[in-house]
Amino acid sequence: MESSTGAAPDDVPKFAVDVLREHLIGCHLGHPLVYLPEVPSTNTYALRLAREGANDGTLVITNFQSAGRGRTGRVWQSQPGQHLALSLVLHPRFPPQFLVMASALAVAAAVEDQAQLRAELKWPNDVLVAGRKVCGILIESSGDYAVLGIGVNVNDSLAHAADLRDRAATLAELTGCPIAREPLAGAILKRLDELYGQLQDDSAIAQPAIRTEWASRLVTVGRRTRVVQSGNVVEGMAQGVDEGGALVLLLDSGERRMVTWGDIE
Ligand code: BTN
Repeated sequence: MESSTGAAPDDVPKFAVDVLREHLIGCHLGHPLVYLPEVPSTNTYALRLAREGANDGTLVITNFQSAGRGRTGRVWQSQPGQHLALSLVLHPRFPPQFLVMASALAVAAAVEDQAQLRAELKWPNDVLVAGRKVCGILIESSGDYAVLGIGVNVNDSLAHAADLRDRAATLAELTGCPIAREPLAGAILKRLDELYGQLQDDSAIAQPAIRTEWASRLVTVGRRTRVVQSGNVVEGMAQGVDEGGALVLLLDSGERRMVTWGDIE
C-alpha cells in the first residue's frame, strides 16, 4: 500500500529510536521520550503534552512529519524517513531567546561533529552550511512552558523543491553521503542538554557566555541586511547583536535600530 506521499512504506528508512535512547542515557533532556512513526507536527503534539503538564525535558520525535510548521506561519517540508523533526517540552527559568541561541549552537556543533561540515548561524535562528539552510528552529511558549522544535534536513535531496533548493540543502547533499540520523539527534540533544543545564542552574554566567559564542558565529553581522517583519521591511548594516540577542541595525538615516524578530531576506 502506498502512503499519501506516494512512498511505499517498506522503502521508507526506519528511525532506530532505541539507538537514540542509548545516546541519551544520563541526559536530563529526552526523558520521557515519545516516538511517533508519523505525526502532523511534533511541535503541535508537544504543545498538547505541555498543556497537559508534561515534564521538563519531554522529547517528541518522529520518522515523518507530514504537516510541519515553520516560523511566521510557513510550512516546514519533510520527506518520510529522511530528516530530523523533534520537539522538547521545557520549563526554562531564563528568557526564550537564550533557548534559540543554545539550540542553534547545539545543532551547529552536532553538524560539525557528525557530518564534518562547517556550520554557520544566521540571525535569528537558522543553521546554514555553505550559505544554505540545513536547520530551522521554532520556539512556541506560553505560561511557564516553551516548546522547542528543531528540524534538520538530513538525507535525500531538496532538488525536487523548486522553492527551497537554492537556499536550503540536506546534509547528505553537502557531504555527498548519507548521514545517520540517530547519532545526529543524540549529538544535538546531548550538547543542548549541557547548555540548557547551564542556563537553568547558573544563568548569570551561562547567558553572556552562550550569547558571545552565538554572536561570534553569526554570518549576518557586518553585512547589509533586510529584515522582513510581516510585510514591514527594516534595512541597514548589521553591526552586531545586543545582550538579549536583538540585531543592531544601522539604518541609512543614521538611526540605530534594535530588531528583536523577523526574517532576513
Ligand atoms: C523555520 O525555520 O521556519 C522553523 C522550522 C521548524 C521546524 C521544526 S521540525 C520539528 C518541529 N515541528 C514543527 O512543526 N516545526 C518544528
